[in-house]
Amino acid sequence: VVISTMAPGRLSFSNITALAPMVRVGTLPMRLLALDYGAEVVYCEELIDIKMVQCQRVVNDVLQTVDFVAPDDRVMFRTCDREKDSVVFQMGTADPDRALAVAQLVEKDVAAIDVNMGCPKEYSTKGGMGAALLSEPDKIESILRKLVTGVSVPVTCKIRILPSLEETVSLVQRIEKTGVAAVAVHGRFKEERPRHPVHCDYIEAVAQAVSVPIIANGGSLDLVKTNSDIEEFRKATGASSVMLGRAAMWNASVFRNQGPLPVERVMEEYLKYAIRYDNHAFNTKYCLCQMLRDKVESPLGKQVQAAQTNAEISNAYGLQQFYQQTQEQLQARRDALQSSSQP
Ligand code: FNR
Repeated sequence: VVISTMAPGRLSFSNITALAPMVRVGTLPMRLLALDYGAEVVYCEELIDIKMVQCQRVVNDVLQTVDFVAPDDRVMFRTCDREKDSVVFQMGTADPDRALAVAQLVEKDVAAIDVNMGCPKEYSTKGGMGAALLSEPDKIESILRKLVTGVSVPVTCKIRILPSLEETVSLVQRIEKTGVAAVAVHGRFKEERPRHPVHCDYIEAVAQAVSVPIIANGGSLDLVKTNSDIEEFRKATGASSVMLGRAAMWNASVFRNQGPLPVERVMEEYLKYAIRYDNHAFNTKYCLCQMLRDKVESPLGKQVQAAQTNAEISNAYGLQQFYQQTQEQLQARRDALQSSSQP
């Protein structure tokens, strides 16, 4: 008799398709949209440990969300029940103790914790975070061990590939020993830009060398354009799972196995979530502009760029009525909460 030691409901990273962590893109509306279209796992944007440790957990009864709010009242991370079993909280960190403090702050509200070890941008690497960690395997190990033993949800990390196959494989073997639940491998060297072709052979070598699920990443530009390409990319890399960044950012319906939706429809559904969850208007705009791509200078694109509020963005998409109705519903909930809290 085989007795599973896995806790019930523990998120599995085998044979799944995931929304990649993306700064500014991976906020709540995009994550919910990706889930609607068929992604099984959704990563939030990278959040920096130093900012997160200062946050307070606030239950938002009006929006029906849990918010992590910074001292300046900015909502750094907003989540809700719908994604509780699928959302992975990605952090930027270079410090095991701080990483653990952040992980413990959010663990009851998320399905897993991920550490970013691939970001090559200076704001990340100068603090020793992101891709800077790749040359410090001892630190990687101490951060991951601390997290694996200190939280009850699965812990994962996301890396880029190292200069040789051997180095890449041995790093992932070391990472595997820490007890992580999966490793996402972005098949590019840290000096490479997103336009460079992805190195499927590196991901394949890693996938063959370890038994922890490998999540292949980096295929958006040349390999993964449609839903069926996801399976091709999985096969080409021999990985267990696939993670999509840009393909999902441009049109999240790439996750739909019934076929893609026109981006106009995707933008509309995105915007409805942004309105419903009171997403910051600048963030809403940013994401819509990514979806507009070469149409960002079209009449619609110009209207979106000129808008300053979610209400103005709604006008651009003809969603005034939806916006109005949503505000009324939220106000009704606010009123009901107020009257039930009166003695
Ligand atoms: C990223 N990427 C990224 N990676 C990460 O680990 N944490 C992050 O916060 C971000 N932020 C981010 C923002 C934007 C706008 C893009 C386009 C990318 C990298 C991303 O997760 C992924 O590794 C790459 O985009 C390669 O995968 P695709 O796009 O080829 O599927």
